[in-house]
Amino acid sequence: MHMSLLRRTLGAGVLSATLLAPSLAVAQSAILEGERFHPEVGTQGMVATSHFLASQVAHDVLADGGNAVDAAVTAGFALAVTQPRSGNIGGGGFMLISDEDSGEVVAIDYRETAPAAATETMFQDEDGNAVAEWSRFTHRAAGVPGTVAGLSLALEKYGTLSLAEALAPAIRLAEDGFVVPQRFVDGVAEAGERLTKWDATKSMFYKEDGSPYAVGETFRQPDLAATLKRIAEQGAREFYEGETAELIAAEMERHDGLITREDLAGYQPVIREPSHGTYRGYDVYAMSPPSSGGAHIVQILNILEAYDIGEMGFGAADTMHLMAEAMKRAYADRAEYLGDTDFVDVPLDGITSKAYADELRSQIAIDRATPSDEISAGDPTPYESNETTHFSIADGDGLAVSNTYTINFSYGSGIAVEGAGFLLNNEMDDFSAKPGVPNAYGLIGGEANKIEPGKRMLSSMTPTIVKRDGENFLITGSPGGSRIITTTLQVLMNVIDHGMNIQSAVSAPRLHHQWLPDELRVEAGFSPDTLSLLEARGHTISQQSAMGAAQSIVIEDGQFYGGADPRRSTSSAMGL
Ligand code: DON
Repeated sequence: MHMSLLRRTLGAGVLSATLLAPSLAVAQSAILEGERFHPEVGTQGMVATSHFLASQVAHDVLADGGNAVDAAVTAGFALAVTQPRSGNIGGGGFMLISDEDSGEVVAIDYRETAPAAATETMFQDEDGNAVAEWSRFTHRAAGVPGTVAGLSLALEKYGTLSLAEALAPAIRLAEDGFVVPQRFVDGVAEAGERLTKWDATKSMFYKEDGSPYAVGETFRQPDLAATLKRIAEQGAREFYEGETAELIAAEMERHDGLITREDLAGYQPVIREPSHGTYRGYDVYAMSPPSSGGAHIVQILNILEAYDIGEMGFGAADTMHLMAEAMKRAYADRAEYLGDTDFVDVPLDGITSKAYADELRSQIAIDRATPSDEISAGDPTPYESNETTHFSIADGDGLAVSNTYTINFSYGSGIAVEGAGFLLNNEMDDFSAKPGVPNAYGLIGGEANKIEPGKRMLSSMTPTIVKRDGENFLITGSPGGSRIITTTLQVLMNVIDHGMNIQSAVSAPRLHHQWLPDELRVEAGFSPDTLSLLEARGHTISQQSAMGAAQSIVIEDGQFYGGADPRRSTSSAMGL
């Protein structure tokens, strides 16, 4: 149904609805007084990451005259040390870089790839049933990691530091250790079963006597320090062709994994053009395939642009209803069309066109939720922890970086590479193990996202940069699996439609609908009366724990405003 709709729309060239005049966001500086939430303010630049130690080292890079890319790469490696459950060198991600001077916005795709020996049905048993355990918690769950290659490419092309300089703070943090905060202790306790299953993982996260670290104790990672040092000394290719590659391949051989030396040697990050759209006069750039994020954030914004969301108000039943209806339609398309564009054709121009949005909008009734009953999706089990990592960085010279990277779950597959000190991702679960069978986030995929050797699995990660009149304005993104797209969307709408300062925009309660399951997920903080009104329109409300962690920045009138997401207790924005 969706395929034909899209074709018809494209063919018919439906006229755009008359859009409302762009509503200007309230100036960030004008609303600080009397607000409940206050952004961090800077005049020369800003970093916002999910760990204060990473924010600190990135801040120091900017203070020493480094640019935003230098700071981003330094933060990226530091997070791999201070937040080993999600910051990563055993995973992959996406980085958007906007250079105001050249007007260029580029996307660095360092998403993991399927190993050469991967097959379409590798996660199905002999009866053709998808086996979640295989795609999530075995060595076969790992895609070929892209982070080291991606961060080093960013640095080479757009930074000023050497790789060794960018790695130095991470090496120091791994070698000397850092004092563990409560969040670290809680994470290890929650994932205890997975972290004690493999010896290499256990020796990484527990003390020599096998007991866990307590708050205030110092956590050191000597194997990781040695790996990072090898990379610093020999360059990024060391990870792919040197001793680290050998350690990864040996780990795979011992445990029936698929990644070989050849897979590692063949890994290449790709520079791509980001998805682009406009919303009320702003230019929105976000990650293109193999992420679905950019296409669908643009699609949802296109649908919502014709409504006066600002007038309806934040958290109003009308606003929430229309957002949910737009989200549903975007996620239905995601399931059908999205995949790695190096392998499949994705009708991106159609999905992101205003005309197609007009067609989709015309199906939305203001007083009634459209049921999502086209496909029976089984019983998805959304993975609720938020363990991808997003950070945003801007310098005083017009360079802005929006980066999201991940090893997928908290602690990825739970499997550390013996002797190398880092966790392997379980990103292969982001492929569709079988058409129609949901992944860990309840996302359905089909042909477009089937497993193929060398292919990148579909992602939802949505690093985003919004420009106004050619200037960097909002830098945002988030973890949260399937909720990444909608979380990022809401930060953007909170600033543009609701005139919130960036800290309020990041802190405000969030909602999420992903078509299947047919439920409107809400965080705590929306009025019960509003939720009743939504139920009366046919929405099934599902109260959920926190969604996302959207470390964000707004730049306005030469000032930098940082919003650290309170959903992650270690989040930190630092201005300079
Ligand atoms: O690429 C993706 O879309 C997922 N692997 C992201 C995973 C994530 O955000 C984990 N947090 N819930």
